[in-house]
Amino acid sequence: SLKGVDLLAEIQRLKRERNAVILAHYYQKPEIQDLADFVGDSLDLSRKAAATDAEVIAFCGVRFMAETAKILSPEKTVILPDMEAGCSLEDSCPPDQFAAFRKAHPDHIALTYINCSAAVKALSDIIVTSSSAQTILDQIPLDQKIIFGPDRHLGGYLARKTGRDMLLWPGICIVHQAFSETELLKLKAEHPGAPVAAHPECPPHIVEHADLVGSTRAILEFALSSPADTILVATEPHIIHQMEKAAPNKRFIGVPGGDGNCNCNMCPYMALNTLEKLYVALRDLQPRIELSPEVMKAARVPLERMLEMAG
Ligand code: 13P
Ligand code: SF4
Repeated sequence: SLKGVDLLAEIQRLKRERNAVILAHYYQKPEIQDLADFVGDSLDLSRKAAATDAEVIAFCGVRFMAETAKILSPEKTVILPDMEAGCSLEDSCPPDQFAAFRKAHPDHIALTYINCSAAVKALSDIIVTSSSAQTILDQIPLDQKIIFGPDRHLGGYLARKTGRDMLLWPGICIVHQAFSETELLKLKAEHPGAPVAAHPECPPHIVEHADLVGSTRAILEFALSSPADTILVATEPHIIHQMEKAAPNKRFIGVPGGDGNCNCNMCPYMALNTLEKLYVALRDLQPRIELSPEVMKAARVPLERMLEMAG
């Protein structure tokens, strides 16, 4: 039993003992964000994982993020507090079906959102994150045909924004899909002039009301730099922790999902990670990301293209 264990002190002790770095996504619980060495969006977390000289990466995020860290730093031990921390976008795109889709469209390249399995990355040409997708897309010749997966809302947003026609895989994020347009319009009426920041995983009926559409880091930067004193946030609400820490006098309001009375705007996968599980993972160096050498080698190519092209 972990009763009586001073988790924060023990995590710090084990971190030193193991020569570990703790990386956390903005959707993690506040107590995890607060003890992490670095908190970031998917692209920044990938860069940190590729550059760290720690021996162990304790990844507080979801599995595809920890797998990315392992692929970019194969000699490191990468632990994830809960191996069940998946992602609905990953689930929407089984590698065998993705391989068949590619085969059916041999003249298309696969531009693939990082929210997917290592096996799907291994079948892709270039990986993108929400913060790098447009920069990368702009470097691909206009006559090049493109498959974009697995997030159809990010793909659709990019297609509308750039005027490019891409073949979209029909995946969605269950969290961003749930944001309610009715609740958002109610909030806008209650807070006249409050700007809206939305993640591109949101469906078009949310994105069309947004003043900023961007990655978690872009949303955070917008919220902090906006002169407005109230900001409406259409992404997973744990990011509001960073906003409140940096700007305690501003008001950040998370847009509700569903009928406004559910917790469905929170990511159930991200929520699986806890301080207790992080402590156990550092103690036992388990659960650990293990991938076949073939998949790692193949998945590394499109991930390195991403890091290069993202600038
Ligand atoms: P970011 O790259 O914006 O951090 O997005 C990660 C994610 O899973 C959003 O749901
Ligand atoms: Fe996946 Fe959505 Fe959770 Fe992000 S918020 S990890 S896209 S399920």
